[in-house]
Amino acid sequence: MAEQALRPPVTVAITGASGAQYGLRLVEALVAAGHEVWVMISKAAHLVIETETDATLPARPERLALALTERSGAAPGQIRCFGREDWMAPVASGSGAPSAMVICPCSTGTLSAVATGASNNLIERAADVALKERRQLILVPRETPLSTIHLEHMLNLTRMGAVILPAAPGFYHKPERVEDLVDFIVARILNQLGIEHRLMPRWGE
Ligand SMILES: Cc1cc2nc3c(=O)[nH]c(=O)nc-3n(C[C@H](O)[C@H](O)[C@H](O)COP(=O)(O)O)c2cc1C
Repeated sequence: MAEQALRPPVTVAITGASGAQYGLRLVEALVAAGHEVWVMISKAAHLVIETETDATLPARPERLALALTERSGAAPGQIRCFGREDWMAPVASGSGAPSAMVICPCSTGTLSAVATGASNNLIERAADVALKERRQLILVPRETPLSTIHLEHMLNLTRMGAVILPAAPGFYHKPERVEDLVDFIVARILNQLGIEHRLMPRWGE
């Protein structure tokens, strides 16, 4: 797709909860839907990606963007990546940030930091911006069982307007492969974002 035809950017932050596949698949799905995708991957998430997937992703933002572009078949410039302390990145300010951000998967550490406004790295700051600007913020936590701290943070974030979309796939679509479970969650995220997809039929279709 030519660069000028790209749809508006969506911010995707991949943090160090289990389920890196969800985040990587989300990037692919947004690319396929023609959106620009602005990606941040935490240090812990790199470790989880190494542990859980066959992907080898470089840490440096420019190289990471190239690797994700190759992986997802994105057009040149469709994927941009930002580093942990890249405070000059557009996502760091309400004037530059996209209208939607997804943290997928979301570690309980990042969940806590977002709930309390810590803003100690660019992912946390971008989420803080999304909250203060009343923009769409979707968090996909993965932890079990959940402590009082986790539950209280989720409740507070929901009250602030964020959507908590746990990485808890259903089984009623009779999944045959791990990819079917991953797509279940990615489809739910795309539904929230109002983005058309064919990952799985909607209920009743
Ligand atoms: C292989 C692996 C799996 C992990 N799984 C989870 C998990 O499912 N949920 C979670 O909240 N943290 C999990 N963690 C711990 C987080 O990565 C850790 O708390 C980290 O500080 C999160 O940092 P981040 O939010 O900056 O990515 C896992 C770590 C590793 C290495």
